[in-house]
Amino acid sequence: MNVPETLFTGKNAIFLPEVDSTNAHALDLLSKTNPQEGTCIFSDYQTAGRGQIGRYWHSSQGKNLLISYIFYPKFIKVTDQFLLNIVASLAVYDVICQYTTDVKIKWPNDIYVNDKKIAGILVQSLLEVMKYAHVIGIGINVNENSFPEILPNPTSLFQLKGANFECESIRLQLSSRLEYYYLKMKGLHYNYLKELYLNAMYRFGIPADYKLLDDSIIHGIINGIDDSGKLLIISNDTVKHFDFREISFLI
Ligand code: BTN
Repeated sequence: MNVPETLFTGKNAIFLPEVDSTNAHALDLLSKTNPQEGTCIFSDYQTAGRGQIGRYWHSSQGKNLLISYIFYPKFIKVTDQFLLNIVASLAVYDVICQYTTDVKIKWPNDIYVNDKKIAGILVQSLLEVMKYAHVIGIGINVNENSFPEILPNPTSLFQLKGANFECESIRLQLSSRLEYYYLKMKGLHYNYLKELYLNAMYRFGIPADYKLLDDSIIHGIINGIDDSGKLLIISNDTVKHFDFREISFLI
């Protein structure tokens, strides 16, 4: 596959055979040094891979892409940070679309194939006055052949296609797509990014049930996201706004 060269994303690539978490390593690096923008840290194995809401990210030795990128998006407002999730989601979405069909972005930033999760994204920030830095951590299940049963609905390219794929090639494609969307964000093409995101959104416009924090179930239709990245659901003729922790998909 012909992957366009990047200007800065993934140019400084640090490979660690084993690490606690590439996100933790990137944040540590940021607290001690000034890595160049687009620096990535990738690894074959994480002993404490971080998932969303304090969860653990599972990945067997040498099977998958585990990578964190460092960016300094000083040009976005603190209230617009959700855009980084859009940028990262679109990049991973594009890469997975090169390998399989029926790819979707499950709000806010999971990548799904049909009803199964193939990739996850964890954006973490270091908001010190002098260093407005963000770490975009991405885990793509490439060659994983079996997952712990406790995981709700994982999948991998191997499980979908019955073949192994080169993580290195996926890494280069990912860097390229990430830079493309990052530069779109830098150029303030917010509507363009949002439109692509909505077009790729899992269950957009489809009636479904969702669980709320108090365990009650609502029936509604995803109608988009608001300016702060909250999920919009039309339920009982009213548009409701949900934060990440306030709602879960029933799959
Ligand atoms: C999720 O829960 O969906 C987010 C998962 C993010 C996992 C990746 S793997 C590389 C990077 N390092 C981490 O510790 N987490 C992210």
